Amino acid sequence: MKLLILHGPNLNMLGVREPGIYGTESLAAINAAIVAHCHGKEPVVEVECYQSNSEGALIDRIHRAYHEGVAGIVINPGGLTHTSVALRDAIAAVAVPTVEVHLSNVHAREQFRHHSYIAPLALGQIAGFGGLGYLMAVDGLLHHLRVG
Ligand code: DQA
Repeated sequence: MKLLILHGPNLNMLGVREPGIYGTESLAAINAAIVAHCHGKEPVVEVECYQSNSEGALIDRIHRAYHEGVAGIVINPGGLTHTSVALRDAIAAVAVPTVEVHLSNVHAREQFRHHSYIAPLALGQIAGFGGLGYLMAVDGLLHHLRVG
């Protein structure tokens, strides 16, 4: 079973980017923790982590996930959360179970971060727990898929 972890724009800058909001953990460290978290699950859970600053590349990766038979997606769409109908439509098109993650508590921040185009399609949204949120999202997804 394969899970796809998608990181949107500017998340490659984690560790450097506004550490007071997003913490000091790098994206590589977060990805390593996700892979370690999935290690030893039964049945085997394969994880691929992908980051892009480009909306089109993220949409292409979601379409490819459908053709690959990916079982579930965890996505932090970054700023595209609040703007992208196209990313929302890609998730709707493939109908792969998806969990939305945000490192920060977007609901406690600026008004424009309160709305998500992705949330109505997601199994759920996890926000405000930093990198731990990805592990919570994976557990939620695996529970939904009846694994682990
Ligand atoms: C974010 C929250 C978004 O509002 C912001 O644009 C990001 C990161 C988060 O993980 O907290 O890029 O998705």
